[in-house]
Amino acid sequence: MPKGASATADAAAGRPHHRTLNDTPDNAKKVSIGVLQACLTDTVDLYNATRQAHWNVKGPHFGHLHELFEKFYTQLAAGADDLAERIVTLGGTAVGTTQALAQGTRLEPYPTDLYDGLGHVKALSQRYAQVAKALREGIGQTDEAGDADTADLLTEQSRAVDKMLWMLEAHLQARD
Ligand SMILES: [Fe+2]
Repeated sequence: MPKGASATADAAAGRPHHRTLNDTPDNAKKVSIGVLQACLTDTVDLYNATRQAHWNVKGPHFGHLHELFEKFYTQLAAGADDLAERIVTLGGTAVGTTQALAQGTRLEPYPTDLYDGLGHVKALSQRYAQVAKALREGIGQTDEAGDADTADLLTEQSRAVDKMLWMLEAHLQARD
């Protein structure tokens, strides 16, 4: 296996690569690095999907949605950075190459032939809900493993993604 591929496999398996004085138990580090890498991969994919929507959205709500999507991907970029840096803090390797992300993402490919504003809102809503769910599942997994700090980071991020999901879904709920 080429060197890059083995680092990617290690990251996916949550194996720490570097010794650190950080006293989080080894098993907790392994669980957290695996959860964080999966959430990092999904978050970067969601960032890219949101940029796709920002660039290509059309229709009467263009201005509002174009700006809203920019606000969201800016938040996701900061969130991805925090997830990646927690991986490295625990002695792991944060993997963010395009190739690894394409292989690892759990999101459906974002359509490249979508223009309608509400169409983008719906397509993004499904993906924001999926990422919020995965982050929330990670809270329990990392807390149970003994890493309350990573659980706290995932709590913060799931709450932020929930809020963006609310803002998306508010466009769709007027007639409910
Ligand atoms: Fe822009």
